[in-house]
This record gives sequence, structure tokens and C-alpha cells, in this order.
Amino acid sequence: MKKVFILIIFVIPNILLAQKFENLALTPPMGWNSWNNFHCDVNEALIRETADAMVSSGMKDAGYIYINIDDCWHGKRDSLGFIQPDPIHFPSGIKVLVDYIHSKGLKLGIYSDAGWETCGGRPGSRGYEYQDAKKYAEWGVDYLKYDWCNTDGLNARGAYLTMRNALYHAGRPILFSICEWGDNQPWEWASDIGHQWRISGDIYPGFDTIVDHGTYKDWGVLQILDMRDNNVLRKAAGPDHWNDFDMMEVGNGMRVNEDRVHFSMWCMLASPLIAGNDIRSMSKETLEILTNKDAIAINQDSLGIQALKFKSIKNIDVWVKPLHNGDWAFCFLNRSAQPSALEFDWKANPVKDDVSNREITFDSAVYTLRDVWAKKETGTTKKSLKAEIPGHDVLMLRLKKKN
Ligand code: GLA
Repeated sequence: MKKVFILIIFVIPNILLAQKFENLALTPPMGWNSWNNFHCDVNEALIRETADAMVSSGMKDAGYIYINIDDCWHGKRDSLGFIQPDPIHFPSGIKVLVDYIHSKGLKLGIYSDAGWETCGGRPGSRGYEYQDAKKYAEWGVDYLKYDWCNTDGLNARGAYLTMRNALYHAGRPILFSICEWGDNQPWEWASDIGHQWRISGDIYPGFDTIVDHGTYKDWGVLQILDMRDNNVLRKAAGPDHWNDFDMMEVGNGMRVNEDRVHFSMWCMLASPLIAGNDIRSMSKETLEILTNKDAIAINQDSLGIQALKFKSIKNIDVWVKPLHNGDWAFCFLNRSAQPSALEFDWKANPVKDDVSNREITFDSAVYTLRDVWAKKETGTTKKSLKAEIPGHDVLMLRLKKKN
């Protein structure tokens, strides 16, 4: 009888009260993550130097604030079951690192896994969710990426809900990034659990590539863009809950024009913008792509509407994103490696978006065109648009109504 009483008075209300921390990602999160470039080779010097570079390169000013340590920071659990960092690579502990990162006006993200072990074979959070969340909160962590390896038999929604509740009870607002690769259609159930959810397996720094590892595959940029039905995905996206097209490979080996496509599309799709390159030693071209103000403004637009794929004209996909104040972004993506001529008659292409309930027509209204990559105004919608788009490149425009 006493046990039932305790259950009703304490435990049940606690579970019912738990929720996602709201308003941590009103626009898509921006930052950096160690995995794509460094894999398991992470240590505290790398994280500090990356934080320094985030500030000195101008990336912080451009909006990148999260420094996220991915897999392999973990050591063993202590005798009480609390997780500890790897003593060789993180000898000062996570709290000291967090304080350093906070002192730079940045935020720190960490990584765990819903299963028994992480993908890199480190301790997972299964059975330790509340203890792990408590530690992260104690350390002052701001962001948790939660992976899905070694989870046989677990229910995805349930597992992510458990960690969401654990984070909530730990009391520190921590952005919750769901990473189950889209296997369980998180766009159908995750919007009140996490702030973003992956929609694909891991990205690969190739434009049009599949790397088959047998039991899983890595995916190039075009493959990720084509992987899901965008009409389904975009209905689920919005402020505080985003489709995550994976951490970026800009600066990790593709051609500059391919990096430009990659970045443009992550902006159009309102995906989190998490750089995955070595920002301590990036090229001028990489930095210019990652910090393009006009592209970032399209990603960070306050309406938070994920672009719609309007049509394809031969090799060229036309993506359209409604923006605040009646502006629109148009991105013409040349999928082919050859240059393609584009002729686009605005008047013949009104766009009606049923998801956001917005439309743009060009019969009476005239819009000015700003070329996001040329960084200049390039005429209006009065005349048909004529352009040659180089192979694997984009023409990305912001349309503003002319008074
Ligand atoms: C999975 C994730 C990656 C990365 C690795 C780490 O593959 O999808 O993004 O976190 O695990 O092991």
C-alpha cells in the first residue's frame, strides 16, 4: 500500500511533468562536430583549439556557437555507475572544457548512444540515462547528440523519450539531437522529444557517391537530398524541431562548387548547420562558403519553413523556400557535371505552397533578385531568368518585392 502511494504521489507526476526543453532551437542550430574529420581521434587540445578558431575565423560571428564532441570521449563508468571522460585524452575533465568554451561565448555539445555501447564501442546510456543526464547537467553541457548503435530490441520513440525525460529532470536546458538515421521515421513522432532528428545514415564527402560497407552505407550529398520524400519531411519541420540532413562535409575534400551546392541546400532545407571540417586550418574558399551571410540568413529565417522541391527542368532541380517579410529563396541546382543552360520564365512559374500556405506570383508583382554567391543584385522578375549554371553548382537567389 505504501509503495503504491509513493508511486502515485511522486513517480507518476514526475513522468507526466517531464517534457522537452522548449525554445532551444528556434532556428536551426549552428556549430561544429568532431566526427566527420577526426572520428575517434578527439582530445581536449583539439576541442580548445577548435573553440579558439571558431572565434578567430569569424565563424562565431556568423552564428556558429556549438562545439560538439562526438563519439569516443568516454572513459569507464565509476563504481557508482557515473560516466567519466577518457583520462588520457580528456585529463582535465569535461567541466573544465565546458568552462573554457563558455568563456568564449560558445556552447559545448556531447555525444552518447541509446544502446549498450556507442557506435565506437564506448559505454552507451542504456540503463544509465538519468545518471548520464545528471552528469551532463553538472558539467554544464548544452547539447546532446544521442546515437542508435547496439539498440537491438529497443523501441526508438521510447528510448528517446526516456533520455528526453532524464534531461528534463536533470534540470539544465540541453538541446537534444536525435540520431537514429531516419530508420524509425522520427519526423512522425520526434517533434516533442528532440530539437532535431537525422533523416539519413552517415554523410560521405562525395557529391554523387554511395560507399557500401556491407551492413550499412555512407551517402553523398545528392543521395541525402534524394533519400526521403521531401513533401513528408517538410511538414514536420519548424522552429524547435528540424530535419537534420547530417553534419556538413564542406572543406572535407569535395570541389569548391560541390561544397557550395552542399551548403546552399542545407540552408534551403533548414537543416542544422554543423561544420565537420578542421576549422583550425581551413582554406579561404571553405571559410567563405561556411560564413556566407545571405545563405545563412536563408537557413536561419524566422519562419523556419523547409524548402519545397518545386520542379526539375532537365538536370536542374528548382527548390523554393518562403521567407519572412514576403521574401523567397530560389535555388537552381545543376545535378550534372556539365554546365547547363537555364531559362526560367517567372510569370509562367507561380509557386503555391500548401504546407506553409504561401504563394508567389509574378504577373503584377515584381521582385528584385539578389545572387547569394555573387553577392550582388542581378535584376528583377520582370524578365525571364537566363543563366548558365556550371556543373555541380547552384544559382541561389533571394527575391524581395519591389515597392
Ligand atoms: C554514427 C553517427 C555518426 C557518428 C558515429 C560515431 O554513425 O551517425 O554521425 O556519431 O556514429 O561513432
